[in-house]
Amino acid sequence: MATLRMLWMELVLLGILGVLQTQAQVSVQPDFQQDKFLGRWFSAGLASNSSWFREKKSMLSMCKSVVTPTADGGLNLTSTFLRKNQCETRTMLLQPTGNPGSYSYLSPHWGSTHAVSVVETNYKEYALLFSQGTKGPGQDFHMATLYSRTQTPRAELKEKFADFCKAHGFTENDIVFLPQNDKCLKEQE
Ligand SMILES: *[C@@H]1O[C@H](CO)[C@@H](O)[C@H](O)[C@H]1NC(C)=O
Ligand SMILES: *[C@@H]1O[C@H](CO)[C@@H](O)[C@H](O)[C@H]1NC(C)=O
Repeated sequence: MATLRMLWMELVLLGILGVLQTQAQVSVQPDFQQDKFLGRWFSAGLASNSSWFREKKSMLSMCKSVVTPTADGGLNLTSTFLRKNQCETRTMLLQPTGNPGSYSYLSPHWGSTHAVSVVETNYKEYALLFSQGTKGPGQDFHMATLYSRTQTPRAELKEKFADFCKAHGFTENDIVFLPQNDKCLKEQE
């Protein structure tokens, strides 16, 4: 089951960053400015209705993601996270969809496709993302993510995220605020 676990880990990391747009149900930050979205984010909150997530959510911790632009106009999302007591780094490349703030992610290993959208952001403090499987394994996977520029988001921001999750059909039980894990968050880069 180690491989399945890695698929979910990928999806979680993906969620960490954004959202998606299949049937245009998901809105995107108006006038999205990708250059202001770049840089370092911390995944402070997650919500998902997958059973894997429900089982594992108490074991997940905050991870750090560095977002840089790619040549094709998409994003390079490089995340550092704790796994088996070691810090691991994984890069995911999000392709542009032509709609600013909406990206698609093709898992090279699984062949599944996911839509990722930045639903709302003020760039300097937080971003709310929504991700959804569109093809292949994990197709019924829906995830909302709170990205924070700091490791300690304000209480108002957590409330905002909880409201956002409920508006996207998640229950209180599906939401988790991730604890800091000093081991992999320490270095400043
Ligand atoms: C998660 O929610 C979506 C939207 O309501 C649904 O289509 C999907 O089947 C759900 N997935 C699971 C694993 O419950
Ligand atoms: C993505 O970013 C990481 C870290 O900055 C870098 O090592 C990697 O080469 C980049 N990959 C691509 C395809 O841009």
